[in-house]
Amino acid sequence: MAEIAFLLNGTPIRVGAESPTRTLLDFLRETKGLCGTKEGCNEGDCGACTVMVTDEAGPRALNACILFLPQLHGKAVRTVEGIAGPEGQLHPVQQAMIDHHGSQCGFCTPGFIASMAVAHTQGRSDHDVVLAGNLCRCTGYAPIIRAAEAAAAQPVPDWMQADAAFILAQISPEGSGEAGSLPGAFRPETTDELADWFAANPDATLVAGATDVGLWVTKELRALPKLAFLNGIAALQRIETVGDSLRIGAGVTLTDLRAALAGPHPHVAAMLARYASEQVRNAATIGGNIANGSPIGDGPPALIALGATLQLRKGDVEREMPLEEFFLDYRKQDRQPGEFVAAVTIPARAPGLRCYKLSKRFDQDISAVLGAFNLTVESGTITAARIAFGGMAGIPKRAVAMEAALIGQPFTLASFAAAKAACAQDFTPLSDMRASAAYRLEAAGNMAIRYFHDLSGTAVNVLEVRA
Ligand SMILES: Cc1cc2nc3c(=O)[nH]c(=O)nc-3n(C[C@H](O)[C@H](O)[C@H](O)COP(=O)(O)OP(=O)(O)OC[C@H]3O[C@@H](n4cnc5c(N)ncnc54)[C@H](O)[C@@H]3O)c2cc1C
Ligand code: FES
Ligand code: FES
Repeated sequence: MAEIAFLLNGTPIRVGAESPTRTLLDFLRETKGLCGTKEGCNEGDCGACTVMVTDEAGPRALNACILFLPQLHGKAVRTVEGIAGPEGQLHPVQQAMIDHHGSQCGFCTPGFIASMAVAHTQGRSDHDVVLAGNLCRCTGYAPIIRAAEAAAAQPVPDWMQADAAFILAQISPEGSGEAGSLPGAFRPETTDELADWFAANPDATLVAGATDVGLWVTKELRALPKLAFLNGIAALQRIETVGDSLRIGAGVTLTDLRAALAGPHPHVAAMLARYASEQVRNAATIGGNIANGSPIGDGPPALIALGATLQLRKGDVEREMPLEEFFLDYRKQDRQPGEFVAAVTIPARAPGLRCYKLSKRFDQDISAVLGAFNLTVESGTITAARIAFGGMAGIPKRAVAMEAALIGQPFTLASFAAAKAACAQDFTPLSDMRASAAYRLEAAGNMAIRYFHDLSGTAVNVLEVRA
């Protein structure tokens, strides 16, 4: 890959002779001496490394610790050092943090400032959501939220508008293509380029949002000698309506997916609000969430319950399959070397769909169990059922015995109690640090009961239930 070009705190930067798996965090701190951005967990959990990244779609908060330099090509990065004005004027969120005593030891503060500055530019007021990926060990969140609320009344400073006007062509006429100064890295701009290159280099690692691959480098210290970075392929980032279906490109981020599904599938969108944090959702893609084959990924059970079809491509050959058939065994998928996930297609409507994520924390936590239920009820009888779970087996899996127990039965509590009993025929879950096997089985069965109450109009969401 030829050199990378991006704006760093308003200054054009060209980066060559670097490892393509060098993280932005290491580059900032070690190469540029910009040590304001902190390293906490180095795995996307704490938000101490949050930076502001702007492209044509606007500004986003991202975790610099799991962001590889080639992912930044053509974008504008602002660290805490670039959030104050050129004459040293404080940004409204910085002033508000001082006024409201939002910082004690200060370790977390640069990350909070970056998240708050993005939200301030976007005019957002959902501060709990925006800041759920920023951890503070000493101040406590109330003063920080008060600061975010106070800053919201102030206009976006002029200097924060500059990045949006940034045009890649002004600093770099190139950037795609192979060879050059980032050895082993390829950054295609079309799916055809990706398909040809990956078919010829089937041993390569694809990098989409790097919220999994980033940890292979920062935590497992894995060497990844050959990589393709997918975030330059606009075609993979589209959501299209095709007849009665939605075709979601593999490169669509969880943030964009959540926004797009808020109308057609509000319960999936609500579940995705509990997927990791703002910073992770801004990077992670639905293609990565499917391709990694995790048994506890949040996307696949919901998509399987929707009856999703997966589109795969290798070279010129495209094929598709029901999503549930893609997951063969623990970490084993029906994907050939050199084949990539191109898209996933779901129905545009599914009024009976509900998704229940069970995790120890409400925000920023991996699911212990995720149940997705999609039933059709006609004249009081259940005529169709698709139920899928994550966290209950080595793969995201349909609950065929539960479905069979429900189809043809009346929509009554007794039918769902029978479905709960059938859950043990579908699954023999494992015990791990997130939940015991017995708890998982009980919780998954109870989700069937919850679904009955949910569709009957009873409040079942933990945020809605009142004593
Ligand atoms: C702090 C943190 C919290 C998280 N919380 C959650 C959570 O709540 N729920 C959840 O489900 N996940 C969670 N994850 C996991 C992660 O965010 C998801 O698995 C994510 O969707 C991966 O997408 P990505 O684009 O980042 O993939 P990457 O890391 O870029 O890639 C993941 C894998 O998929 C492959 N891949 C990527 N795109 C394609 C493609 N188009 N075709 C073929 N292969 C491809 C890569 O080669 C790699 O093997 C969390 C991760 C972190 C770091
Ligand atoms: S250092 Fe914790 S999220 Fe990056
Ligand atoms: S001020 Fe110390 S961790 Fe937040």
